[in-house]
Amino acid sequence: MSIIYDSDAKTFTIHTANTSYQMQVDKFGYLLHLYYGKRNQGNINWGLVYADRGFSVNPYDAGQDRTYSLDFLPQEYPGQGDGDFRSPAIILRDKKGTFGSEFKYKGYEIKAGKYGLDGLPAVYASDEEAETLVIDLVNERLGARVSLYYGVLPQLDIITRAAVITNEGKDPFTVERFRTASLDMPAGRYDLHTFYGRHTMERQHERMSLGHNSVSIGSRRGMSSHQYNPFVILSDPDTSEISGRCWAMEFVYSGGFAAEAERDQYDQVRMQMGLSEDRFSYPVKPGENLTAPEVIMTFSSEGFEKMSHALHRCIRRHVCRGKFRDIARPVLLNSWEASYFDFDGVSLLELAKQAKELDMEMLVVDDGWFGNRFDDNRALGDWTANEEKLGGSLGGLISRVNNMGLKFGIWMEPEMISEDSDLYRAHPDWALTVPDKKPARGRSQLVLDMSRDDVREYVYDSVCNVLDSGNIEYLKWDYNSCITDVYSRSADDQGKVLYDYMTGLYEVLEKLNEKYPDVMIEGCSGGGGRFDAGMLYYTPQIWCSDTTDAVDRHYIQYGTSFGYPSSAVGSHVSACPNHQTGRVTPLKTRGTVAVSGSFGYELDPARMSEEEKAEVREQIRGFHAVNGLVRNGDYYRLADPFAEDCSAWAYVSEDGSEALISAVIMQNHGNMHNVFVKARGLTPGSVYRDMRTGRMYAADALMDLGMPLAQPHGDAESYVFHLERVQKA
Ligand code: GLA
Repeated sequence: MSIIYDSDAKTFTIHTANTSYQMQVDKFGYLLHLYYGKRNQGNINWGLVYADRGFSVNPYDAGQDRTYSLDFLPQEYPGQGDGDFRSPAIILRDKKGTFGSEFKYKGYEIKAGKYGLDGLPAVYASDEEAETLVIDLVNERLGARVSLYYGVLPQLDIITRAAVITNEGKDPFTVERFRTASLDMPAGRYDLHTFYGRHTMERQHERMSLGHNSVSIGSRRGMSSHQYNPFVILSDPDTSEISGRCWAMEFVYSGGFAAEAERDQYDQVRMQMGLSEDRFSYPVKPGENLTAPEVIMTFSSEGFEKMSHALHRCIRRHVCRGKFRDIARPVLLNSWEASYFDFDGVSLLELAKQAKELDMEMLVVDDGWFGNRFDDNRALGDWTANEEKLGGSLGGLISRVNNMGLKFGIWMEPEMISEDSDLYRAHPDWALTVPDKKPARGRSQLVLDMSRDDVREYVYDSVCNVLDSGNIEYLKWDYNSCITDVYSRSADDQGKVLYDYMTGLYEVLEKLNEKYPDVMIEGCSGGGGRFDAGMLYYTPQIWCSDTTDAVDRHYIQYGTSFGYPSSAVGSHVSACPNHQTGRVTPLKTRGTVAVSGSFGYELDPARMSEEEKAEVREQIRGFHAVNGLVRNGDYYRLADPFAEDCSAWAYVSEDGSEALISAVIMQNHGNMHNVFVKARGLTPGSVYRDMRTGRMYAADALMDLGMPLAQPHGDAESYVFHLERVQKA
């Protein structure tokens, strides 16, 4: 039993292998948060401190007892209206416009298995692997019930949260704020970690000490965004990779989000994650309900490494689905950086021929194969192949590529519409635009109104038509604009549109997953603009960034690794000078970096020398040798590229029998000092053999002294050591 209700103390305790989480229903019916940390025993209600504090208001039920105030007591799901002036998790307005969301405990239920969420992605698990706790809170005045969902995967140290608000009253109310998870931490000093960025430079790790303020990040773009990832960590100031406490929250949602950490007057910290309030104001009529998307939480008392391992396992095995979750993904050649829009049927077949000769396994035809799409100003929405450009039907092209012994993949951007398209000429009202206002365009395009049934039907049918036109085994689902104009011609209330857009998108993706279990869908949004656990429920990998520069990718893949497994990271080798940065890096290094994800190429092999082609073949052989380990092994961040000259990381199989250590010395210097990379995760007392050189290494020495890297020649030199354990202690 991982969930225990103590009816005398009225405490709920959730235990995982290494953590405990505790709440208590107090004498006035408020649900207080007692503890989230290292696994513990017994009730920890002695942690609550009551005092008469100036300017703290007291709930009516407390009578003359001024030592009871929600101004400082740790709450599990803080509302508004009973004296807690910190950030509320939920804000409601009744039909008169009155604010207030004071909630009291009503009841609970404990169930085997993991709850699911209607129409939203969520962690899944078998009944043996998980348990669910549902706690109901009510606001009698509004007739509102909030059901707090806790999913527990004890072996993984994962606790998930979701919240559903139901209108059980007679009048409608409006949800003005809906955060899924709130976590009140006792007084102390904490660091907040965020993963900020921009297009082609996503998920940069930033660590900041929390002052007496409220730090909030989020996205108002209708997408999880390049700018802030929906993933945050709170830690002790001295937490490192291998020691110290940290708490993580990761949103299973791809739309706008809000994450906040507030340090209050008494040094306590409240950490929250949920839906963005931007252009969100969701009416809930009697009998209706609304769900706050899931947040995955984990706690580690042994640093960020353990935290990431728990999140990686959770995403790999309990978020990603379908047959591609567990199998090697094909090595692909993508046409984008090879030729952008400048291709035809003949050049594509030439690309396929080259790919085959280099032992690649799939040709992906990126943007430009449909309608009048000769550049990125037109034709989105017109998902019929341009047969003139392709020199025949799409089906014919696919067969020819298949006959060359290659799989075939294709690019689409189904949620978008160009004004210069047949679709827009027929259905201008299908675009999200505000009446009497000229819409703001992103990449010259508009966004389709996915909250509409007829639009969703069109999008689904267009994707099916494309996928049915031949043996397509991979679909790159792109999304290249933010949502600026929020107005749906079919909505009864515009405050619902952004949320309904997202559930509409998920509905289409769910149906496509069901209908095409053998097609792998890769998520993409100008690279990593929608790199989140919500998309990973439908697409087991996501194009991590539009930069293929091997140096920039270190920072991006380093940041990404805190919350997401390598199996989710789309990563390709491209030509040099790099198209995004103009930088030249060794082909070997480009391979070392790209192999640490879902691997492929994004270049024109015809422009490579014979030596480079031989190196690519070698790279692909190397990829096959390590890919199982990269997908399933535990990931170790061995050096921080933000802080050190070197970037280094490793994968170690769960049983410790195999390891892959990769390193890159980012910048060479005159008479360069020696660089050692300290391994982790190897079996202590054992001996490992480098499979390439045959050299033997004592595991403890590798973890203590480190692996010496040979003197580099030039910048961004890379080093790879594939080790097998040959002697156990
Ligand atoms: C986005 C993607 C790229 C490519 C282009 C095509 O930018 O991230 O990989 O597919 O669109 O237009």
